Amino acid sequence: MDIGAILQTICLTALNYGLSTCIEDQGVMFPRVVREHTGIPESSRILISIAIGYPDWDFPANKLESARESLDNVVTWYGDA
Ligand SMILES: Cc1cc2nc3c(=O)[nH]c(=O)nc-3n(C[C@H](O)[C@H](O)[C@H](O)COP(=O)(O)O)c2cc1C
Repeated sequence: MDIGAILQTICLTALNYGLSTCIEDQGVMFPRVVREHTGIPESSRILISIAIGYPDWDFPANKLESARESLDNVVTWYGDA
């Protein structure tokens, strides 16, 4: 839960600076490349990675808009509204 909250905060903060993000398992699956480029030592475990950069809106994949599950399907509200 803590890591999820931090991930989302980093992604939303990046957005505020005009950057886009993609939370990725790739850094966990290919740690050698990440360590090589970042200097993260073997003694530090990589749990998740986030790709951050300026989006190229002309690139077709960046025009994709995925459907969102309705809030009512994922949230149960308790208490008085
Ligand atoms: C914990 C976690 C790990 C993810 N790992 C990958 C990944 O390795 N590769 C990838 O393409 N997307 C990965 N995703 C999905 C993307 O971060 C993103 O949520 C997805 O592309 C949906 O984008 P959208 O929210 O803009 O529709 C991961 C998401 C989460 C939450």
